[in-house]
Amino acid sequence: MTEPNEYGVAAGYPQPNTRLIEIASHLIPGDALEVGCGNGGDTLWLAQRGWSVTAADIAATAVHRLTQLAQETHLEHRITSLRWDLNQGLPPGDFDLINAHYLHAGPGLDRPGIFRTAAHALRPGGHLVVVDHGSIAPWSWDQDPNVGFPSPREVHTNIELDPLSSQLVRSDAQQRVASGPDGRIGEVTDHILMIQRTGL
Ligand SMILES: C[S@@+](CC[C@H](N)C(=O)[O-])C[C@H]1O[C@@H](n2cnc3c(N)ncnc32)[C@H](O)[C@@H]1O
Repeated sequence: MTEPNEYGVAAGYPQPNTRLIEIASHLIPGDALEVGCGNGGDTLWLAQRGWSVTAADIAATAVHRLTQLAQETHLEHRITSLRWDLNQGLPPGDFDLINAHYLHAGPGLDRPGIFRTAAHALRPGGHLVVVDHGSIAPWSWDQDPNVGFPSPREVHTNIELDPLSSQLVRSDAQQRVASGPDGRIGEVTDHILMIQRTGL
């Protein structure tokens, strides 16, 4: 394993998302659920910071690869990777953090239902973090200007949560500089929604 970079993750391993670092650096580690974990960059980063992470993805290759990475990085005691269809519900458990980064997978994915179930799977004080794309990256193959990006407020409204059991922590859009697969640098927008479970 090579030396860790500024995120504490060794070069050559999947890297965490910028927004997760900003948000979760301020949280006390506990039990986390990754919905649509993809290449596992967020899962590895959380586990390195002391979180116990359940990482769910429908893609068998993603789950298999993350299981291997957990072993290679000696984090297997903190990571449970599951092949899981989120449309069928969430992995069982109560969580202090549920992270959904760029969970865009076409119209077949019941995002409001998944996020509503996720909000109910939070422990009191726990957070649901939803980060969506808010712009078309300059390197995207699809430059359709009519593509809509629901605002974080709209995403929140569609989840239809009981205001007595959760509170909106933030719903905003932020720019960041990103690099595309071809090495091109460009500015992109993230839509950030953060909800906290209240009550007992
Ligand atoms: C755009 S990727 C984002 C991956 C990761 N969160 C990240 O930030 O890099 C979306 C992920 O959601 C997963 N996914 C799509 N539909 C799913 C479903 N029904 N159940 C579980 N995972 C799903 C995909 O396999 C993919 O890994």
